[in-house]
Amino acid sequence: MMNVKWTRRDFPILETGVAYMDNAASSLTPEPVLSKMMEFYHEYRSNVERGVHRLEQRAGEEYEKSRIKISNFINTKSSDEVIMTKNTSEGINLVASGLKWHRGDKIVTTSLEHHSNFIVWLRVKERYGIDLQVIKPSKEGKFSLSDFEEAVDEKTRLVAMSHVSNVFGGISPVKEVAELAHEHGALMLVDGAQSVPHMSVDVQKLGCDFLAFSGHKMCGPTGSGVLFIRKETQEEVEPLCIGGGTVDDVGLDYYRLVEGPKRFEAGTPAIAEVIGLGAAIDYLGQIGMRTIEEYERQLTIKLWSGLSEIPRIEVYGPSSEDRVGIVSFNLGSLSSHDVAIALDIASNVMVRSGYHCAIPLMKDLLRVPGGVVRASMYFYNTKKEVDRLLSVMAELSSSMA
Ligand SMILES: Cc1ncc(COP(=O)(O)O)c(C=O)c1O
Repeated sequence: MMNVKWTRRDFPILETGVAYMDNAASSLTPEPVLSKMMEFYHEYRSNVERGVHRLEQRAGEEYEKSRIKISNFINTKSSDEVIMTKNTSEGINLVASGLKWHRGDKIVTTSLEHHSNFIVWLRVKERYGIDLQVIKPSKEGKFSLSDFEEAVDEKTRLVAMSHVSNVFGGISPVKEVAELAHEHGALMLVDGAQSVPHMSVDVQKLGCDFLAFSGHKMCGPTGSGVLFIRKETQEEVEPLCIGGGTVDDVGLDYYRLVEGPKRFEAGTPAIAEVIGLGAAIDYLGQIGMRTIEEYERQLTIKLWSGLSEIPRIEVYGPSSEDRVGIVSFNLGSLSSHDVAIALDIASNVMVRSGYHCAIPLMKDLLRVPGGVVRASMYFYNTKKEVDRLLSVMAELSSSMA
C-alpha cells in the first residue's frame, strides 16, 4: 500500500502547496537522494578510477554500486551492460552514431516517438542513405503488429520505438516487436524514458538489445541517465567519445579500447549524479515498483474519467487502463499554454503544454496546431491534486458555454 502522506515529506517543494504534474518532463528529487549526493561532496569528493588514495577508492566504489543497483533494477545479465549517460537522448545518439551503417540498411521507427528517438534516425538516413520506415499508430496511439510484420525485413538493422508514449502514456508492445526484429536479424532499441520510472521493466523479458532512460525522470538528479547495451552487441557499437578511462593500452600510433561499459564513458563522469541515481533506485525500490504502478493507475483512472466527463474537453490516447500516469487533453479552442497558465495561477497546478517534443505526432496524427496540455503524475501526487485540476478545468469549460 502506498503511504503518500509519509512519502511527500521527502519532497520539501510540495510543502509550498504546488501540485507537480509535470513528471514526464522531469520528476522531483527526494531528500535521501540529495543527502547521498551531499555525502559524496562532504566525505569523499574526488575523481573515480584513476587514483589509489582513499577518497578516490570510496568514490569509485559508490559509483560502481550504482551501476549494480541499476543492473538489478532492470535485470541485466551483468552490470557490465549498464552504461552511464547524461540522459535518454545521449543514449540513443550513442547507438545511432556508434553502429556502422551501410547504404540499403533499414531502420524501422514510429510516428509516436519523442524527437530524441526520431530525428536521430532522420540524421542517419541523411548521412548514410539508409531507408527509414515510419509506422503510424491509430488515433489512440495503438499499434497493429501486422504493420511491423510488413515493415521489418531482412534489410532491417534496427527497430527503435518507445515503450511508453510521452504524449499518450500508452504502453506499446515492445516485447512482441523485439521478437519480430530478432527473427529478421535486426536489433531492438527501446526508449524507456517514460516506462522505467513508472513500471517494472526487465530487459531480459523485453528481449531488447538497447534500453535508454533518464535518471532525472525517476527521482534521480538531472544529468543522470542510462543506456543498457546487451553484452553481445557492445562490440558493434563505436563509442560516442573516447579518451581518459576508455582504453587499456595506448602507444604513439595505436590505442586499445577496454571491454565493458567504461569503453563508452570517456572522461570524468557525473559522479555525484550517478551516486544520486543509485540512491533514487533504492528509494523507488523501498516503495516498490508494483505499488507505484498500481497507485498511479488509480490516479490515472480518476484523472482520465474526470476529464472525459467535462464538456468541450478532448482527451487523447488509449483508455485509462492501458497507460501510465500521463493524460493529454485540450479544452475547446483554448491554447494549451493558456490552459497551463490558468492551472498554475488558479490552483498551483503545474502541467506541460505545447508539442512535448513530438511534432510529427501533433501534426500527423492529432492535427493539433497548438499542441496539447499534458498532466503527468508520479507516486507523490494525490487524489486531491487531481480534484484541483479537474475543478479548474470544469470552471474553464463552463465559462466557455
Ligand atoms: C519518450 C521520451 N524519450 C526521450 C526523451 C528525452 O529525455 P531526455 O531529455 O532526458 O534526454 C523524453 C523526454 O521527455 C521522452 O519522454
